Amino acid sequence: MRVLVTGGAGYIGSHTVLELLKAGHEVTSLDNYSNSSPESLRRVCELAGKPVKAWEGDVRFQAFLRDLFMGNRYEAVVHFAGLKAVGESVAMPLHYFENNICGTNNLLAAMQLSDCRRLVFSSSATVYGVPRKNPVDESHPLSAANPYGRSKLVIEDICRDLAASEPGWNIALLRYFNPVGAHESGRIGEDPRGVPNNLMPYVMQTAVGRHPFVKVMGTDYNTPDGTGVRDYIHVVDLALAHVAALERLSDFRGAEAVNIGTGKGASVREVIAAAVKAVGKPIPSQDSTRRAGDAPAVWADPALAHRKLGWKAARDLDAMCADHWRWQKGNPEGYRP
Ligand code: NAD
Ligand code: UD1
Repeated sequence: MRVLVTGGAGYIGSHTVLELLKAGHEVTSLDNYSNSSPESLRRVCELAGKPVKAWEGDVRFQAFLRDLFMGNRYEAVVHFAGLKAVGESVAMPLHYFENNICGTNNLLAAMQLSDCRRLVFSSSATVYGVPRKNPVDESHPLSAANPYGRSKLVIEDICRDLAASEPGWNIALLRYFNPVGAHESGRIGEDPRGVPNNLMPYVMQTAVGRHPFVKVMGTDYNTPDGTGVRDYIHVVDLALAHVAALERLSDFRGAEAVNIGTGKGASVREVIAAAVKAVGKPIPSQDSTRRAGDAPAVWADPALAHRKLGWKAARDLDAMCADHWRWQKGNPEGYRP
């Protein structure tokens, strides 16, 4: 299939571009490099032994998108381009709404104009808010705790409204749980700018000496060891879920949401223990207070993904840590030289 991947140079985008190329698709990336660099795509080409067409451009620029779609006749789009830092979204809500919501609206308009109605969209488990029960399935009530989460909810609604307005749209709204890890080669991985908010990159950066210790944020939750529980998913499994969704888009009637998780929760202490095993040396940590807004525990019911996509996560927490560590050790400053 001829596929446009927006945000193709980013963390999940670069791994997905690689798996799409390996599956034989013709891939073009569109990225403004606001949170990535073209180096990730250069390495993807190296790993795939194939070229990727890469456009530097912004999904907020309507005329540019229109020309791109009219000139290329893409058959499907995988849409990652967006901003994702929760704290930043609280500080700059309008910037998040413009980038994420307006950007997606433009993209859908350009797709409609060029008669391309097949989309895989990066949604998030954040749309479930603090879950009432675990595992969380797709029928769980939706809510937004911050502007980032609201942008995902609004985009899901826009997709549903658009699909209801005219026949022919096939849209997969993939709700990711917690993506971690890196390609097993250690050549591509997550390269957060500034200090990471998420647990796994913080743990791995601590292991290479970029931070003195990991803060265990909350030890008094009602969980087996008192620390927060999440459903961590290997980024290569997540990338493969996109390939599966793309290839089964005709089974999506309108816009449908699917959880992408492993179905297993791991606590902060379990993550740190698995990372210590992968790294082969102690990683300093200190107990600390809860982070405001955090859910005690969140893990997915991934049954729909099995049924609808024929997809199941294959990589466990040890593999996630081993692969993430290989990337971090080989690229302590990320893609920067
Ligand atoms: P990322 O920041 O690494 O990738 C996003 C890419 O989009 C970057 O390369 C960035 O430069 C590009 N981009 C941003 N705004 C753009 C714009 N206006 N035009 C063109 N390109 C633009 O993030 P990621 O972790 O790969 O996440 C990809 C998608 O998945 C995001 O939409 C994110 O919200 C969603 N998501 C991520 C997670 C996670 O934990 N990483 C969890 C759930 C959902
Ligand atoms: C965060 C985002 C969420 C996003 C998700 C995946 C917030 C409030 N939520 O959620 O919107 O969808 O990432 O990108 O930012 N922890 C520590 N020490 C740390 C960092 C985290 O103990 O330095 C704990 C947290 O309290 C949590 C667990 O580790 O229990 C995982 O945290 P994180 O990686 O930030 O993911 P989420 O909390 O799921």
